[in-house]
Amino acid sequence: MRDIFGKALLDYYNGNYTEDVFTSTNISDEDELPLPFLFRDYDEMPPLEKKAMEHVKGRVLDVGCGAGSHALYLQEQGFDVKAIDVSKGAIEVSKRRGIKNAEVIALLDETEKFDTILLLMNGSGIFQELSKVPHYLNHLKSLLNPGGQILLDSTDIIYMYEDEDGGYWKDLNANYYGELDYLVSYKGESEPLTTWLYIDFETLVTACKSVGLQCELIMEGEHYDYLARVY
Ligand SMILES: C[S@@+](CC[C@H](N)C(=O)[O-])C[C@H]1O[C@@H](n2cnc3c(N)ncnc32)[C@H](O)[C@@H]1O
Repeated sequence: MRDIFGKALLDYYNGNYTEDVFTSTNISDEDELPLPFLFRDYDEMPPLEKKAMEHVKGRVLDVGCGAGSHALYLQEQGFDVKAIDVSKGAIEVSKRRGIKNAEVIALLDETEKFDTILLLMNGSGIFQELSKVPHYLNHLKSLLNPGGQILLDSTDIIYMYEDEDGGYWKDLNANYYGELDYLVSYKGESEPLTTWLYIDFETLVTACKSVGLQCELIMEGEHYDYLARVY
């Protein structure tokens, strides 16, 4: 992993912000990911994320923390927070921003227990493929203290397959439509990501049931996005 994403976060943190990260997928053209958004404070968080912050309780794990914006806010509120990410650059930035407990570790290698596990900014992306969701959910379940919860946001990207007549062009023989191949580009370098999963709420509910977890809708966003609580 070349950690282009981490490099971009470090550049921004060090005052070398000259351009944004670009992402493209197998079904969409290049899209800008503004670096300042990854350094958002509470006021700049989208409503779904503010709602997630309201529901946090107990010891917290922020999975795929990026620049650590949610972990930092919660730490300032007095929560005991651990932030993890597979990107070295992301964890370096998170530590420099003041997060006391931040570690370069993949979700499946985490073993401690928590009362709230956060997966935000399309948190289901980390699950990669629909077929891997039960495995990830089972692992997340093993990290929960009794009464614990997972707060996760995602989007039903069915709208990306809509054609001009209001029909859908998705290939019914292909994999689940929320599995996208991403390419991340920054300052002339590109890096393919593993598949990134967007999951619609009903499919998430079914996957949760298959591993003995409950899933409730906390809030719907303005554009097919939602916040769920899994417990
Ligand atoms: C879209 S960013 C979200 C950052 C942050 N949660 C936010 O809302 O600003 C996704 C993050 O997940 C991290 N990530 C991807 N796979 C992971 C895994 N298996 N375990 C931990 N982190 C992972 C990436 O390195 C990246 O920093």
